[in-house]
Amino acid sequence: MKELVPSPPPIVRNDVAAVQQLFQQHVVPSYGRFDIVLSHGAGSYVYDVTGKRYLDLGGGIAVSALGHAHPAITQVLIEQSRRLIHTSNFYYHEPQGRLAQALVNLIAPGKCFFSNSGGEANEGLFKLARKFGHDEGRFEIITAQNSFHGRTLAGIAATGQEKVKKGFEPIVLGFRHVPYNDLEAIRNAISPATAAVLIEGIQGEGGVTPATPDFLLGLRALCDEKRLLLLMDGVQDGHFRTGRFQSFQRILENNSAAGSNGQHSVAPANGSAAFAGFLPDGLSMAKSLGGGFPMGAFWVRAPYADLLGAGSHGSTFGGSPLACAVALKVLEVIRSEKLEENARRVGDHLKVGLQQIAHKYPEVIRNVRGLGLMLGIELTPNIANLPGETHRTQAVKMASLFHSEGLLTIPAGAQILRLLPPLNLRQNEADEGLRIIEQAAHKLMNGSY
Ligand SMILES: Cc1ncc(COP(=O)(O)O)c(C=O)c1O
Repeated sequence: MKELVPSPPPIVRNDVAAVQQLFQQHVVPSYGRFDIVLSHGAGSYVYDVTGKRYLDLGGGIAVSALGHAHPAITQVLIEQSRRLIHTSNFYYHEPQGRLAQALVNLIAPGKCFFSNSGGEANEGLFKLARKFGHDEGRFEIITAQNSFHGRTLAGIAATGQEKVKKGFEPIVLGFRHVPYNDLEAIRNAISPATAAVLIEGIQGEGGVTPATPDFLLGLRALCDEKRLLLLMDGVQDGHFRTGRFQSFQRILENNSAAGSNGQHSVAPANGSAAFAGFLPDGLSMAKSLGGGFPMGAFWVRAPYADLLGAGSHGSTFGGSPLACAVALKVLEVIRSEKLEENARRVGDHLKVGLQQIAHKYPEVIRNVRGLGLMLGIELTPNIANLPGETHRTQAVKMASLFHSEGLLTIPAGAQILRLLPPLNLRQNEADEGLRIIEQAAHKLMNGSY
């Protein structure tokens, strides 16, 4: 195939300080950033402006589903941008309709709304829940402690972590937090005003904690019993990352035979995401959906799909022809390259390798958890000889240590590092990551940092 864009020129400058100064002077300092100035990427690797190469096992926080500079994404960006980048939602266009159809076919009968981010996708779910309960005066949404649902005002209200709310009071009303994986706590938190429950299938920012099958199945039954919407935030753990389209499918796959007696009233369509009779009523998506192109969406199950009528919700950019064409291409590549299977195979390989390292170096790694290519490395408290400024968390110090060895990972909380790499990560790249992690653990134990 003809090369569409020339490869980027090799970078030989070292203007780290100059770029950082631009940020210090002109960019709102709301992020804690590492001292790395990235220049370009290819596949599972990114390069900084000094030419240093990093294996990107962070994947831009679960976004770069096809890795960096994938030719199919480059091609669709060029082709679609020549045709039509933006229309506004006053008009129809084919890519949005086709993407909605593709997502509905992956989940179950229903409809989709398109946004530009995960936070906005969740805002849509909050509005859906409010509309659902409105005429009965129900508006409350129960979410989990340690959850993360975005940085909008309602997103921080929904998020079960105090640190994101601090300084932004008064907090949007109508959210209650209960311990994750605790069905009784949800039952006890339900009030006459409750309209919905929102959970992640695997808590991401909260430290890579999967829901248990019993919790998911019990929650579906409870929501049916109490007439509550069951909403799932699939922003981080969705889009085939766990080896299934949605993490709840992976979590419930061993229960699927047991549940085929149709516990839940929804008759799943062919190819429906329902497992063991489990299907949420609404699902938010973002991150890998656009493979790096900013986009989000929510799906809502058929009986509720027309709750948000004309004029009730919107977004200028949401579901643009360009974003939808890219997302369709990402789906096509995931299918044609069987990346769902790859995520399972390479993810499971990575997890076993990490568990072996944890076994060998318990002074450094306490636990490894997660599914497919969504893995969490829980660090052992008070790792000896870990370099870094004292006020930094262990996770940040360890991530910095990995940077020095040419590896990108993503901190989650104070003690956990996440691996959320491209879904097309190769086994030899996973092995390279394991080597770097093991070598770092070895050097830490030797005191050679
Ligand atoms: C589970 C979950 N929900 C929502 C969000 C917010 O998405 P965004 O940053 O695209 O607004 C995130 C972001 O990390 C997330 O992990």
